[in-house]
Amino acid sequence: MCGIVGYIGKQDAQSILLNGLGKLEYRGYDSAGVAIETGSELRIEKSVGRLAVLTDRLSMSPILGTVGIGHTRWATHGRPSDANAHPHTACDQEFAVVHNGIIENYLQLRERLLAQGHRFTSETDTEVVAHLLEEYWTGDLLSTVLRVLKDIRGAYSLAILTRKDPAKIIAVRKHSPLVVGFGEGEQFLASDIPALLDYTREMHILEEGQIAVLTASGIDFFDLDGHPMTVEPFLVTWDAQAAEKGGYAHYMQKEIYEQPKAVRDTLSGRVTEDGTRVVLSELGWTEDLIKQIDRIHIVACGTSYHAGLVGKAAIEKLARIPVDVEVASEYRYRDPIVSRNTLIVVISQSGETADTLAALRNAKALGNRVLAITNVVGSSVAREADDVIITWAGPEISVASTKAYTTQLVALYLFAIYLGQTLQTIAQDAVTTYVRELQALPQKLDEVLQSAPQIEEIARAFAVWDDAFFLGRGIDYYVALEGALKYKEISYIHAEAYPAGELKHGTLALIVDHVPVIALVTQDELYEKSLSNIKEVKARDAYVLGIAWAGDEEIAKSVDRVLYVPRTLPFFAPIMLIAPLQLLAYYASVARGNDVDKPRNLAKSVTVE
Ligand code: F6R
Repeated sequence: MCGIVGYIGKQDAQSILLNGLGKLEYRGYDSAGVAIETGSELRIEKSVGRLAVLTDRLSMSPILGTVGIGHTRWATHGRPSDANAHPHTACDQEFAVVHNGIIENYLQLRERLLAQGHRFTSETDTEVVAHLLEEYWTGDLLSTVLRVLKDIRGAYSLAILTRKDPAKIIAVRKHSPLVVGFGEGEQFLASDIPALLDYTREMHILEEGQIAVLTASGIDFFDLDGHPMTVEPFLVTWDAQAAEKGGYAHYMQKEIYEQPKAVRDTLSGRVTEDGTRVVLSELGWTEDLIKQIDRIHIVACGTSYHAGLVGKAAIEKLARIPVDVEVASEYRYRDPIVSRNTLIVVISQSGETADTLAALRNAKALGNRVLAITNVVGSSVAREADDVIITWAGPEISVASTKAYTTQLVALYLFAIYLGQTLQTIAQDAVTTYVRELQALPQKLDEVLQSAPQIEEIARAFAVWDDAFFLGRGIDYYVALEGALKYKEISYIHAEAYPAGELKHGTLALIVDHVPVIALVTQDELYEKSLSNIKEVKARDAYVLGIAWAGDEEIAKSVDRVLYVPRTLPFFAPIMLIAPLQLLAYYASVARGNDVDKPRNLAKSVTVE
């Protein structure tokens, strides 16, 4: 969580920092701040609230300088407040520190520093770093930072500036992402690539335990022992426009509409031209390796976990390998039974989720092979896994994940077919059918999105209710879980998903006159059973929105309203069902006047546990 930016060069640092922070606000937005060296002082301006509050303050009293660091915060230690906002400084006001992550041993360090006479002004873990810098000052910033790093434990990235050695910024990466950008007579720093795209395309993602020393003329790299390191910068080819809102009212809306393209991009190059095979050449796996896999554990959080559930259904059906799916925050503290041949699949849109990363590291420590499915090239998960399938969804800015989920599903379908075709648990004819149907999905998704006006009207009616229930059987239930999560996280309406057959074991008690029930009905072999469950809620006067295959006239007789989606193979149904559910959540959130892209209490990248 939290976003860091830094600039050193010849331009006005304040405007570059604020622009970068704007691009990073999705990482946290409960407070923001900057520290800029003016030549006569190290001035810090910070404030609780959105970045706009800080921007207003600075427009009234700008800080003139060409070296600075900035921060946008998502609170971990210490509630959102002016005092807890970053940058933090020490007693003599000569150091400024911004931080993303957690300093685990900060309480011990704080006690020690208090005993040594340091006075603290915040409740944060970060402030200890500023005081340690003051305590250990050697006359040179790099050697001081190296000394401080020996004392602190945890997962963090830091950017540090001092009056005492003002012509440099030091950046440190330990388990939290950090990118540097190279310019002519100016250098840049940020938690994420989009924050730098307005200024440079030549970048380097800091390695674990790497330190960057930025001066106006260049960037030097060191390891934690202070040994120089050489790096190969890379050129970012992303279109800066891709990270902008386009013509849409919100990023989430734009990202929902980008799904046909995202699905197409994720399939691109991964099926043969004649549409008869899946090719996952990035894995480079041999047939022997695949045959050895005796079990798969899929580990992820939130939306990615929901994608994992669909992945389980696909892999078990097509490759006949048993799959367990677990929430990473539980899995990492269990003692899971894994054989040498258990494959661990971690799914993470951001590639930085702390719990997922920890599960990955535990699995690697046990000697298990780890495959990552992620949307971010160069993310921690991508770098640390043995193998990676990148989902080509493009940058996802809205906190609520949409196109990343859909492309995770596509990656999992491709993986399931790939396993099945290798293990010959599916016949060649079936492989061809699956591949061709996958290729038809973008077009069908386009059709689904055309029902947006109808969905908007339904969402407005649903938004006056304080509850909503999402029902499904089989794979439809897994999509119902994701539909309910999307709905609650951005509309703030209580939403629950249930396997439709479970209703009578408790949830029916909550069904009252007109309460919205969204029933997903696409699994042919469960059709009759699903209709019976719909009748159960209708008998209690619920208002039922059915989502079913185009041409299903039967369902219209049992529900109040139907949304039809183009037919595909039953286990690809999630790709058809999720778009209406995302739109339903989106319009309910708009109807309630919420901040769609930045739902309260949530952040895009959860890099703390
Ligand atoms: C919900 C959402 C979250 C994330 C979860 C995991 O819309 O986006 O539930 O799915 O925080 O994030 P990643 O996939 O980045 O590991």
